[in-house]
Amino acid sequence: MTRKWPKPVVAIDGPAGAGKSTLARALAERLGSRALDTGAMYRAVAWSALERGIGPEDLEDVGKLASSLKMCLGDRVLVDGEDVTSAIRTPEVDWAVSLVAANPLVRRVLVDRQRVWVDEHGGGVVEGRDIGTVVLPDADLKVYLTADLTERARRRAAEAGSGGDARAEQLSRRDALDAQRGDSPLPSAGEAAKDALVIDSTKWRAEEVVEAVVKALRARL
Ligand code: CDP
Repeated sequence: MTRKWPKPVVAIDGPAGAGKSTLARALAERLGSRALDTGAMYRAVAWSALERGIGPEDLEDVGKLASSLKMCLGDRVLVDGEDVTSAIRTPEVDWAVSLVAANPLVRRVLVDRQRVWVDEHGGGVVEGRDIGTVVLPDADLKVYLTADLTERARRRAAEAGSGGDARAEQLSRRDALDAQRGDSPLPSAGEAAKDALVIDSTKWRAEEVVEAVVKALRARL
């Protein structure tokens, strides 16, 4: 079979605080590739809208803003040259981001950029809400990572320097908004892409999750 990308492509989806970023970074390191945190892209748009006094629900203005922003995603997140790595993780951005992410104009722009990122990197590990279902349906491996709400809130609270939504009710509000939107909603574990490996990591250590995913990827390549 001809491979579409030279390096493996892994799509990781799941609710807030499930450990997607931790898994994505560790996996990329194991595979000698890079990880893309697509949530940081939606957060960057939400942060920029708040900075400019644009309402997160203003479809047209936020859509225009998304296409005009220059984003650089790596260890740090840069928006038009400004380092916003910490600024996109505040409770204000947690509150606004799901509204921005429900905007189809924003999704169109960011999904295009996510696909370009994978092509330019020749593969990689991409995490978000709609990666296996919409962005990269041809990924070599799709993972749906979840955990109990209480455990996700505990992990979020434990993250050093996390100024964000550590409380269970805040995480659950964001999950509900993400799951109920019309465009590319967050699937439940049962609705995840049919070919996805579903992992409930409530009782798993981070390393165990990485090992399970590496094993599943080996079996598919
Ligand atoms: O880190 P956490 O799981 O809390 O969230 P995130 O990955 O930083 O994503 C922030 C928000 O961006 C989510 O709550 C979604 O509203 C949105 N998002 C999305 O709609 N689609 C994606 N592929 C990634 C994130």
